[in-house]
Order: sequence, then structure tokens, then C-alpha cells
Amino acid sequence: MIELTINAQKHVVDAPPEMPLLWVIRDIVGLTGTKFGCGIAQCGACTVHLDGEPARSCVTPVAAVGGRRITTIEAIGATPAGQKVQKAWLDIDVVQCGYCQSGQIMSAAALIASNPAPNDADIDAAMAGNICRCGTYVRIRAAIKQAAKGA
Ligand code: FES
Ligand code: FES
Repeated sequence: MIELTINAQKHVVDAPPEMPLLWVIRDIVGLTGTKFGCGIAQCGACTVHLDGEPARSCVTPVAAVGGRRITTIEAIGATPAGQKVQKAWLDIDVVQCGYCQSGQIMSAAALIASNPAPNDADIDAAMAGNICRCGTYVRIRAAIKQAAKGA
């Protein structure tokens, strides 16, 4: 049994220690907002926060995160940065198919929380690992800038 804190709630899960956090979150805990894209740390769809830092849950063994604060897309709107990012995403209508967007928002919220006024290079560095097959990158950049103004 492994005890986890996800979105400020305790969960005791029966999972093999090497099981990726992504599958624990989705299949055991039932939070399906975090997506599977590649499974090899290349696309960013599975991004969650560990103690506020973005992390790829598809390659993070569940046993490695027992003592950490895990935040998923379901709760990011309860954080100040996440709230600003989600509002900007809606205002700018960023989303196309939506599949990558949980991960995009998690990376953007971590950026805004750590850097309230990111420049283009900061945005590029923070978002480089999040792939969008619909090509929403221009709107993502605009939304991050809008969220930063409200930060
Ligand atoms: S599913 Fe984790 S990075 Fe692609
Ligand atoms: S919105 Fe479709 S993959 Fe990004």
C-alpha cells in the first residue's frame, strides 16, 4: 500500500511500486483529466505537479512520490496561478481538440507561479516539452501572457 496526497486528499493505493503515477491517478484514483500521450516523457500530456513543479507522470514511479504533494488538472484551478491560466485559456479560446491541454495548462500554471512575468524565452523554455498536434502554440503563448498580466 502506498499513501499519496493528491489534490489535498489522502489516498491509500494498492499498486506495484514501479507503476507509473499516471496510471495510479487515472485507473486507481479515477482522475482522468491527466492524459496519456506517448508514455516516454516526450509529449507532456501527462504533466502533473509534484510540490508545485511540473513532472511527467508517465515516467514517474508511484513509489517515488509518496511524500510529495501531487496536483492534477482537476485541482489546478484552486491555485492562484492555475486560476489565472484557466481564465486566460477560456478568454483566448486556446483549445482545439483538447487532448494536450491538461498538460499545457499544468506547465503554464507552474511557469506563472514561479515567474509572474515570463518573456518569450521563458515561455519557450517552460513549454518546449508540451506537444500540441493541433498547433495551438500561438494561442498558448498569448494566453500565458494574458495570465501573467493578471498575476
Ligand atoms: S504521456 Fe507522458 S510525456 Fe507523453
Ligand atoms: S489541442 Fe489538439 S493536441 Fe493540442
